[in-house]
Amino acid sequence: MKQIAQGAEAVLYQTKNSIIKDRLPKTYRHPHIDSQLRKFRTKREAKVIQKLKQLNFPAPNLIKVENQIIEMQHIPGKKVRDIFNKNYKKLAAEIGKKLAILHQNHIIHGDLTTSNMILGNRKFPSSENQDDFLLFNKEIYFIDFGLSFFSERNEDKAVDLHLLERAMESKHFQVYPDCFKLALKSYQKHYPDAKQVLNRLETVKSRGRNKNK
Ligand SMILES: Nc1ncnc2c1ncn2[C@@H]1O[C@H](COP(=O)(O)OP(=O)(O)O)[C@@H](O)[C@H]1O
Ligand SMILES: [Mg+2]
Repeated sequence: MKQIAQGAEAVLYQTKNSIIKDRLPKTYRHPHIDSQLRKFRTKREAKVIQKLKQLNFPAPNLIKVENQIIEMQHIPGKKVRDIFNKNYKKLAAEIGKKLAILHQNHIIHGDLTTSNMILGNRKFPSSENQDDFLLFNKEIYFIDFGLSFFSERNEDKAVDLHLLERAMESKHFQVYPDCFKLALKSYQKHYPDAKQVLNRLETVKSRGRNKNK
């Protein structure tokens, strides 16, 4: 098993076909509370991933969940962060569309950055070919549902969008704000209730501005 990442919250290992995410103890938390919290977050991440599977949304499949450890499908591909600036028009539109699907299903990602997206290959059965031939299409997979939750509130959806904007502004300043505008345009196109969320986004943004004064 090879360690591939060490985040603030978890260590990630890669096996032949899977990723194992192990949430680490935090020594500044009471041991019992800490263990409960890690289990809770792991369970929630697993729950969201399972819901996404039902929706046929491109995210890793859940393989196993046990205490604070989650095992999921490894998604081969490039991190969107590393290819975004070159292809931002197409990628931003796809991100907006994917986010529209999440929000329509009342799923808040909670950590929308291009580091939590992988451009992978998705298999589609070919309708023209009877021999079960599969076509591969590049598609953005969302990962890292550790901070995700279910909510119908426009406020939560607006904050999700705001986080995406902040991430684009800092990591992709070369193509910002155009990239975010394109993502929003596509979000609106694919989400009938987007208007309410965008109205709320204005409030969220002005709150952010006031905080910095
Ligand atoms: N299912 C997966 N397939 C491929 N790579 C993954 C997968 N899950 C995580 N990774 C890689 O590990 C990194 C950290 O995982 P992530 O779930 O984002 O944890 P963290 O909370 O530490 O950000 C990701 O940025 C990605 O490079
Ligand atoms: Mg991450």
